[in-house]
Amino acid sequence: MSDKPPALPPIDRTVDAIRTRVIAWRDAGEGVALVPTMGALHNGHLVLVTAAKERASRVIVSIFVNPLQFAPTEDFAAYPRDLDGDVALLSTVGTDAVFAPEGAEMYPAGFATQITVGGPAEGLETAFRPQHFAGVATVVAKLLIACGPEIAVFGEKDYQQLLVVRRMVRDLMLPVEIVGHATVREADGLALSSRNAYLSPEERQQAPTIHRALQDAAAALRAGELGGTVVAEARQRLTEAGFDVDYVELRNAETLALPVHQEREPLRLLAAARLGRTRLIDNIAV
Ligand code: PAJ
Repeated sequence: MSDKPPALPPIDRTVDAIRTRVIAWRDAGEGVALVPTMGALHNGHLVLVTAAKERASRVIVSIFVNPLQFAPTEDFAAYPRDLDGDVALLSTVGTDAVFAPEGAEMYPAGFATQITVGGPAEGLETAFRPQHFAGVATVVAKLLIACGPEIAVFGEKDYQQLLVVRRMVRDLMLPVEIVGHATVREADGLALSSRNAYLSPEERQQAPTIHRALQDAAAALRAGELGGTVVAEARQRLTEAGFDVDYVELRNAETLALPVHQEREPLRLLAAARLGRTRLIDNIAV
């Protein structure tokens, strides 16, 4: 056994470079998967890469902090950036290439096209971040078109995003399979997130309440309690624990429409709440 650290994956900065690489892989008969990220990588991202590697011989991880999906009031400038650290982490999980374009490569002067998704993009996050999913759909479409994978892997941590991307891919007939992966959590239940780094030690102690409240709400729903009551209780519990709640909602797990027959539909509970300056989101199957 050698103690040498694994070789760093190559970093492509341009669409031409990643396309050339993918064409060579394809010519060699290899399958390609993409894991889109905004960097500041943690184990949740690395688990997606490992899942991608199980499905394709070559895995690209894109790292791009997408200005289009941040509102002017949000943390675009402050969003943590550490390309060298990210690439070192990615080398440990068998990443074959990193696609890390500059802003001007993705959005050159004169850029004027955006993709607006309805359906699953309506409500929930959109009520608080109206332009967010247009920004996500646009950048994900561009990343898929640039990299041309057969498979792209997304986390259930951002459940509405996963369904929005699925919808967009179907509607635009993009030839790619969208794979969802379960949320990776800390031992105390807090979903891993690049934004957890913003939490103070006291807030970090309180943060897992969001997962516990969703777990208890899901258990109450399975026991036959009514959606409205359960959701109101979860919201109150979060408020009492010091959260500013944006929403706690029960939705159809496949469409994100409001449930019509609670007992006969696949259901998902979704929540977003702020602790100090940190906005946390989480969700759980019922
Ligand atoms: P980012 O927040 O970096 O997340 C990249 C991917 O990692 C997303 O699919 C997200 O759902 C997944 N992920 C994050 N935390 C996770 C966790 N704890 N468990 C499982 N998966 C997790 O989501 C984005 O970037 C951007 O919106 C992007 C899709 C890259 C478009 O800009």
